[in-house]
Amino acid sequence: MTVGSLLTADLVITALAVAGWLGGGAASAAGRRPLALGLAAFALLATLARAVTITALARAGWWFAAEKVLVAAPLSLAAVVVAGPRLLRARGDIRSVAVPLLFAGYAVSGGLLVTVLHGYPASAGVGLLAVAGVVAATALTWRVLGRRPSRTVSRAALVVAVAALVTGTGLTAAPGAALGVPHDHEYPDARAVGEPTRRFTLTAGTATVSVSGRDVAAWAFNAQVPGPELTASVGDVLEVTLHNRDIARGVTLHWHGYDVPNRQDGVPGVTQAAVLPGQEFVYRFRADQAGTYWYHTHAVSDIGVRMGLYGVLVVRPAPATGVDVTVPVHTLAGLPLPAPRTEPVEAGVPVRLRLINTDDTTHRYALAGTAFRVAAIDGSDLRGPTSLVDTAVLIPAGGRYDLVFTAPATPVALFVDGRAVYSTGPVSTATGAWPVLDPLTYGVGSPVPWSRYDRKFTLVLDRGLDLHGLLPRYAHTVNGAADPDIPPQVVRLGDVVTFTIVNRSLVVHPWHLHGHHVLVLSRNGVPATGSPLWLDSFDVRPGDVWEVAFQADNPGSWANHCHNLGHADAGMMLHLMYS
Ligand code: C2O
Ligand code: CU
Repeated sequence: MTVGSLLTADLVITALAVAGWLGGGAASAAGRRPLALGLAAFALLATLARAVTITALARAGWWFAAEKVLVAAPLSLAAVVVAGPRLLRARGDIRSVAVPLLFAGYAVSGGLLVTVLHGYPASAGVGLLAVAGVVAATALTWRVLGRRPSRTVSRAALVVAVAALVTGTGLTAAPGAALGVPHDHEYPDARAVGEPTRRFTLTAGTATVSVSGRDVAAWAFNAQVPGPELTASVGDVLEVTLHNRDIARGVTLHWHGYDVPNRQDGVPGVTQAAVLPGQEFVYRFRADQAGTYWYHTHAVSDIGVRMGLYGVLVVRPAPATGVDVTVPVHTLAGLPLPAPRTEPVEAGVPVRLRLINTDDTTHRYALAGTAFRVAAIDGSDLRGPTSLVDTAVLIPAGGRYDLVFTAPATPVALFVDGRAVYSTGPVSTATGAWPVLDPLTYGVGSPVPWSRYDRKFTLVLDRGLDLHGLLPRYAHTVNGAADPDIPPQVVRLGDVVTFTIVNRSLVVHPWHLHGHHVLVLSRNGVPATGSPLWLDSFDVRPGDVWEVAFQADNPGSWANHCHNLGHADAGMMLHLMYS
């Protein structure tokens, strides 16, 4: 069983236990003996079963189980100890066990709420709040059901509840390190003197574009989705003038995966102000990394990218030979892009397919009709990639894979989630059952280039209740906090830094660090053995623990976030800063 499915199983079992205890309590209050006993017995079993799931999660990593061990387990134990013996002794009036059964229900719910609303890291404050809630609910039930607790019992309950509530609130409200995001760092840009310069102008504006024969309202660069493809050769200077015609919430250009100087990074409020209607901004940087990249707005990026403010950036090492095709996959107003295209290629011609996922979620790509190699991931060439046949690849949100092959005499087709998007002729192959490539074991390994690590950061990804301004929201969190309250990660120039990224939520988080590529060290404790993988976008699935490292060699303030941009917008975004 994977850790991801254990997390789900544990939640389901807990919900069943809650339903069983509360249902049993209600049935016994109503005097329905067989039903009450049945539900309670079921709840007892479910509660005990959690000993197994919690233990397994704790063995997979303390991050997955902390609050379950510290809060849910003691509460569940109290539930069993209080309700169990009374159930066995309930010979006479079944109504006498209503309060103990309901208490058990509240106790197990308390643990569940702590997991769902708070998560990691567990804190004494939250534990005490949960206890206070359970005691208060039980006392209230006791009153309502008319079986008055003795004076001493109720006084003790009151004292416990109030004390727990006061300490709990105090401890949870304790100020975290809520540091603001610094602005305006001065770092040298690429100088454009005497170097070949590629100039482009991108005008952002609302537009109506046609997708699969339908007119769709979009936000577009130069009235097209995707925006114009920007191409350059290694060594060129790119100079891109961004105009905003009428995107009221502002626009910027972020060069996804391109490790540009900080001031060119296009993050509003961090590296520049958003470009408002009527304004312009000129980006300039040297194209010194070859490969497949993309650009997109970073102002209200959740909406802006989805609406169409993105395009391809390709930097070629030398004059390209053969066929070179970019396939930026996107979903616009629920419709898939790009439109399918078919063009014959003569046998023997080398072909490079540059696959780009500009959506918020993973896509599955399958190339049928030929053997191929994955030449590059996220713009970096792989070492010793071997030939693959009938194998699919999963590309995370924001990620890129370059597939290369020599055109065979027979047609070839690329399928994205089963839909043919590019082909050299008619191909009918079912690709749905193909195995998926694991890039961590693909290609030829080489030793990690560092022998010491100067800073280690752990990022535990979860969900939790968060106060955003004064509005409570169910945020996507990192270490229990949401943007802008996540403390920045501070490094020094030259540091070798590791991130341990743990996903204890139930959804995939495609992680993306700006300004740097990270080298994958291990996933779920298993070291990467394939070609060194220098990534800027990687899927951290539920239950996954990734260890990655990079050298801090690009000073500035860098966004570090989930590239499911809705998650980033809902809190899953922090910053890496140089001291
Ligand atoms: Cu492609 Cu901060 O994003
Ligand atoms: Cu996410």
